[in-house]
Amino acid sequence: MAIAKREFDAVVVGAGGSGLRAALQLAEANLRVAVLSKVFPTRSHTVAAQGGVSASLGNDEQDNWHWHMFDTVKGSDYLGDQDAIEFMCRKAGEVVYELEHFGMPFDRLESGKIYQRPFGGHTSNYGERPVKRACAAADRTGHAMLHTLYQRNLRARTQFFVEWLALDLIRDAEGDVIGVVALEMETGEVMILQARATLLATGGAGRIFASSTNAFINTGDGLGMVARAGLPLQDMEFYQFHPTGVYGAGVLITEGVRGEGGFLLNKNGERFMERYAPTVKDLASRDVVSRAMATEIKEGRGCGKDGDYILLKLDHLGPEIITKRLPGIREIAIRFANVDPVKEPIPVVPTAHYMMGGIPANYHGQVVVPDGRGGERVIKGLYAAGECACVSVHGANRLGCNSLLDLLVFGKSAGERIVEDLKGGLAHKKLAKDAGEATMARLARLDSATSGESVAEIGAELRRTMQLHCGVFRFPDSLAEGVKKILDIAERARRTFIRDKSSVFNTARIEALELDNLVETAVATMISAEARKESRGAHDRSDYPKRDDGNWMKHTLWYKEGNRLEYKPVKLKPLTVEAFEPKARVY
Ligand code: FUM
Repeated sequence: MAIAKREFDAVVVGAGGSGLRAALQLAEANLRVAVLSKVFPTRSHTVAAQGGVSASLGNDEQDNWHWHMFDTVKGSDYLGDQDAIEFMCRKAGEVVYELEHFGMPFDRLESGKIYQRPFGGHTSNYGERPVKRACAAADRTGHAMLHTLYQRNLRARTQFFVEWLALDLIRDAEGDVIGVVALEMETGEVMILQARATLLATGGAGRIFASSTNAFINTGDGLGMVARAGLPLQDMEFYQFHPTGVYGAGVLITEGVRGEGGFLLNKNGERFMERYAPTVKDLASRDVVSRAMATEIKEGRGCGKDGDYILLKLDHLGPEIITKRLPGIREIAIRFANVDPVKEPIPVVPTAHYMMGGIPANYHGQVVVPDGRGGERVIKGLYAAGECACVSVHGANRLGCNSLLDLLVFGKSAGERIVEDLKGGLAHKKLAKDAGEATMARLARLDSATSGESVAEIGAELRRTMQLHCGVFRFPDSLAEGVKKILDIAERARRTFIRDKSSVFNTARIEALELDNLVETAVATMISAEARKESRGAHDRSDYPKRDDGNWMKHTLWYKEGNRLEYKPVKLKPLTVEAFEPKARVY
């Protein structure tokens, strides 16, 4: 069947922070750019980011990018690539001021400068004490950022395809990427969007876990597309659990609460973080705080009748600070935990939040894969930015507020590189006659199945399996069992069945297609986790409790075909400064 086609200079898949920042760069360079989004752009998951965007502006106290770089390298548990980390931390001021000039409504200090608050793992003078580095718009920084970037894109005449789901990449005989196959959710129409450059900015995949701070749209779509196209996924074993998700609901309570002076308590009313991180206490990095909370619960010091949560106290900040700096948190606590934090602490638990791994990319946003001779090669025409990409600046554990920074820095640099590549002659290539056929076959199978597995049940089982076998603490037998279970789930997901065959606004059909992406992401995560025999950052194994720099200072690459794993070395050499050598990580 002939598939409809349209041609663009560039296609951006995803309209969160990185997609919009890149699209702006492209549209302002007068390129024909199409942005595809499953939801209205300002409903992308960036909207849920709360506490701030990190940049060492030094507005309230001394700070500089070297300290930011050190904190990020240390936060990554030395798995982050130091060239990319230097690039990001040096660019932070530029992209934040740019955003300010785009109209971002940051909170202000008395001096009129951008308001900054402390955040976990961000310190002054290489770990001495917490520093105010998070540039904030109350506790709605992502919301303000997304609206600012969207408005700016409207002004630049970016073309949006709203409620379109990208299904697969199109690669030509040389392996170059020449566009995507996508589906309009309203009509069910399938179209090839041919492009000289394709940027994946599809965000995270928190929906592989049962308890997650992520929106329902975060189903790892870009990762699924990349895996099906025969390309690897990097460092998928590293999934961050945010210390403070609302107990029972998963909704995020920003680390900015602790930045403003809130703290965690166990059932004895003890500020237990003083034991785990004597210097920075509740503002240690997230993996450290989440493990401390899980340990308190495991050792019987959790709160409530089942002893399975921790309390986050902030009433001592007073109603004025809470209303001014944390208005969204108050609303969330009232709605989802039934407590008013002006009077009572909020029950919280570590909750799946952020994927440090993703599509392997360099700091120009180009997708890079091993060349088979010990080096790397760029996949022509394909770029990735934001949470779906692994640059890798976050390594084994991301610092809070470095995600919004990552979106801005790498969205912009991917946009710049695409403009350069297109001006340098990256041309449209011919579509093969069979382009899009594999995708059409996937849809045809789904639409013709008369019996099979329930999408909802498989999805629920996948999420339960990930939560149980690949959580904050990981155990060898449980990981091995998790691999077996997730492979079985992957097999069953090939036989899904939906009763409603209509293609018009058919959410069951969309969920079935999203399940394919969840499966690729979950399999990559579980297999990579089972294989890494050390504890580092967010990956904590009971049988290998220590970091092992001798054997594991390397990135994992998972390939869908045969569930094959390869490894590549961490880039320890920064761009211009001396490397931060791995050290014991204490806070
Ligand atoms: O805690 C937060 O506000 C989350 C920020 C982040 O994940 O960077």
